[in-house]
Amino acid sequence: MYHAAVLTVSDRSFRGERPDAGGPLVAELLKNAGYEIVRTAIVPDEQAQIEEMLKTIADSGEAELLVTTGGTGFAPRDVTPEATLAVCDRMAPGIPEAMRYASMQVTNRAMLSRAQAGIRKGTLILNLPGSPKAARENLEAVLPALGHGLEMLSGRPADCAKLPD
Ligand code: MTE
Repeated sequence: MYHAAVLTVSDRSFRGERPDAGGPLVAELLKNAGYEIVRTAIVPDEQAQIEEMLKTIADSGEAELLVTTGGTGFAPRDVTPEATLAVCDRMAPGIPEAMRYASMQVTNRAMLSRAQAGIRKGTLILNLPGSPKAARENLEAVLPALGHGLEMLSGRPADCAKLPD
C-alpha cells in the first residue's frame, strides 16, 4: 500500500471563505484506490508557501504520492505549476499529457490546465485542477497507471512487461 498526501491550493479555502471540496474528494478517490492518506493541508495561492509545503511533505518521506488540487489555470495567482517545477528533481510530462488528452474528450477547456507532474526524492508530485469535477476527471484518467510508476520510484523491481491484473 502506498501513502498519499493531498494539498489544496486555494486563497478562499485557506481563508475559510469557501469549504474545501476538491481536497476531500481527491482524498476519497485515492483511499478507494488503496492509498493511505497520511496528510491533508490547505495553502493559499502563494508560490513560496506552496513550495515550502511540497518540500516539507516530500522531504519527510511520509508519502510516495503528493497530489495538489487548484491553481493550475491562467488567473494571475495560479502558480501551483511554477511551485511544482521549482521543487522537482525530474519531471514526468506524460502524466499531465494523459490527463489533458482524456479531459479534452470532456471539455476543450481542459487545455487551459497547466498542471505538471514531477519527482522530488521519493515522492511523485501531481497537480490537478481545482474544481471537484475537473479534479476527479483528471485523476481518474491517470490513477490506474500511477502504482507502476511508484513501484519503480521506490526502487522495487518492477516488470514493465507485466500487464495489470
Ligand atoms: N479538466 C476536466 N477534465 N474537466 C474540467 O471541467 N476544467 C478546465 C481545466 N481542466 C476542466 C479540466 C478549466 S475551465 C480550467 S480553468 C483549468 O482546468 C484550470 O483549473 P484550475 O485553475 O482550477 O486549476
